[in-house]
Amino acid sequence: MTLTIKEKIEQLREIIRYHDRKYYVENNPEITDYEYDRLVKELQQLEKAHPEFITPDSPTQRVGGEPLTQFPTVGHKIPMLSIDNTYSDEELKEFDHRIKRMTGVDTHKDIEYVVELKIDGVAITLWYEKGLFVRGATRGDGFKGDDVTVNLRTIRQIPLKLELEDKKLKIPSVLEIRGEIYLPNKEFQRLNEEREDEGEPQFANPRNAAAGSLKLLDPRITARRNLRIFTYAIGYYEEIELKTHIQCLEFLRVLGLPVNPHVRLCKNIEAVIHYCNEWDKRRRELDYMVDGMVIKINSLALHGQLGSTSKAPRWVISYKYQPEQAVTKIEEIVMQVGKTGTITPVANLTPVLLSGTTVSRATLHNFDEIQRKDIRVGDHVIVQKAGEIIPQVVSVLKEKRDGTERTFKEPTSCPECKSTLERDGVYLRCHNPLCMSQAKRRIQYFASRDAMDIEGLGPALIEQLVDRCLVKDYADIYCLKHDDLTNLDRMGEKSSSNLVRAIEESKHRDLDRLICAMGIGNVGSHTAEVLANHFDTLDKLANATQEELEEIYEIGPVVARSIVGFFQNEYTQEIIKKLRAAGVNTKKIMTPKLVRNPKVFGKSFVITGTLQKYSRKEAETLIKNLGGRVLASVSKKTEYLVAGEDPGSKLDKARELNVHVLDEDAFEKMIQ
Ligand code: IVH
Repeated sequence: MTLTIKEKIEQLREIIRYHDRKYYVENNPEITDYEYDRLVKELQQLEKAHPEFITPDSPTQRVGGEPLTQFPTVGHKIPMLSIDNTYSDEELKEFDHRIKRMTGVDTHKDIEYVVELKIDGVAITLWYEKGLFVRGATRGDGFKGDDVTVNLRTIRQIPLKLELEDKKLKIPSVLEIRGEIYLPNKEFQRLNEEREDEGEPQFANPRNAAAGSLKLLDPRITARRNLRIFTYAIGYYEEIELKTHIQCLEFLRVLGLPVNPHVRLCKNIEAVIHYCNEWDKRRRELDYMVDGMVIKINSLALHGQLGSTSKAPRWVISYKYQPEQAVTKIEEIVMQVGKTGTITPVANLTPVLLSGTTVSRATLHNFDEIQRKDIRVGDHVIVQKAGEIIPQVVSVLKEKRDGTERTFKEPTSCPECKSTLERDGVYLRCHNPLCMSQAKRRIQYFASRDAMDIEGLGPALIEQLVDRCLVKDYADIYCLKHDDLTNLDRMGEKSSSNLVRAIEESKHRDLDRLICAMGIGNVGSHTAEVLANHFDTLDKLANATQEELEEIYEIGPVVARSIVGFFQNEYTQEIIKKLRAAGVNTKKIMTPKLVRNPKVFGKSFVITGTLQKYSRKEAETLIKNLGGRVLASVSKKTEYLVAGEDPGSKLDKARELNVHVLDEDAFEKMIQ
């Protein structure tokens, strides 16, 4: 039977929606990014030829047209209240007592609770009518918020159309869902690095970054921020019957909405306390910020009985974790030159223990920030980990000053090349393209694990190579000889041979790594992969026009402009010539999936912890090339967990689900 164009379009949409769910919601992709992009492209082409069939729920219609001038305000049908906080086990017990007293439950009987992670992001509400996403808004003052629908539509975890795999169930004609939008820590870090490159002020923490991204008036920019969501409640529904909160969460899950996997049903308050304490220790394993736990009574009948105060429902409470802060002293403020010339002031601190690691440096972001917080050398300060990654100075303990503190003078020249610095917004920049500090940072980035992965080429060695004029840019690495290296500090015969070999090996990296390594502004490893898949060769990418680039799904005008500018630069062209002359691969390697290793082919793997012999990316590529699939998280469908050192919670989960665990040796045996 041949399909009409309209049917073909609808079929493609359904397939894409299915894979969106597998990838974005269930973390369990079934096809490669390349195959997915091909499907989207096919749909885009059909819709372009037949615009009369475009509907707002099409996966191609996530990013809307023109930027808004402001967000409309919308009233919430059910107020979005906040939650009362507790800070100790004792307070949780009091909460349990209070509930029992108010509902007339015998003090010796147990009340069942659902315990969830308290995601530190931005609360939002999503409206679905007849299964279609029609509106989404922020909490605002609890009664009315901003209608940020256009931005929420760009989040691919949010289905534009709800679908039930079990067709016996019914999608309610009206449904209001509550959840938290957040920015994963990795994305937060990437965004701040990008902003630093662009001379824009950095976000203090992932929550501010998520809130800022959701309030952008241009959805095309929001789309590139990679916001994510966990849904945790149903605000309003019709036609279905739900009796417990855990059923609500299960219903959200079957509707294809992301629900945090660490939800636990606890049979009494003791179990709640135990679970809260467990996560206080474990929360650092997560790639998003959790500032506490949320404890909800499971029975919806009890919710009705308890009702709310004007501020918060009585059936829910949060258990807040202590913020991770410590007091230490600023010993010195030094200047760091970034790979694009941005000068960042960094504080050298008296080492202090913070969230399990010793912190001896903190970023001060920029010079306005130093002034605003009145930070002086010798000050005692409170430091905190933002997004649990980069420590930052929160505030100065001025009462601890004894008069020996020194104010810090903003530099006028580059600490490395001495050229005059220019102000660019809140940043100072060195515009000298030959500045050695910038060159060092670029080379470091080029050699790093996610880029060309040149083992043994670390910051200290790069420092010497550039200072001794052995290399000026990253292409020069390929001219290094064994004898150039043996003369350097801490380099013997063996380490020199190893490095020469590592450099030689890196010539055969795939195109996406090379693109990433070149340090094009706004192009990280994911975008590099998209570009490599699309263009196949560096030449084609270098010759692409702004329009051609913008046509690629996921590439917006800012990234496109940055790529075109990069390749037009004479300096870049020189470098490409040198890379080519050295024999560095500039083409996409078409990996023959034919090397079907029967032990790996068709099997699904999850990798966790640190492996000694492979980087994460290498292990992934190895598995993929042998026909296996690599998934992000452990589920019932995972066949093998490859566990390196410090495996964390994935190992527990794997054991719980009886997933086969391979240590590095067993993994090596398998792939050989
Ligand atoms: S339930 C009526 N569950 O925490 C209860 N909230 O401090 C609605 N939050 O405004 C909220 N994770 O933005 C709930 N698992 C979770 C949550 C959560 C984060 C946020 C939410 C709320 C704030 C209260």
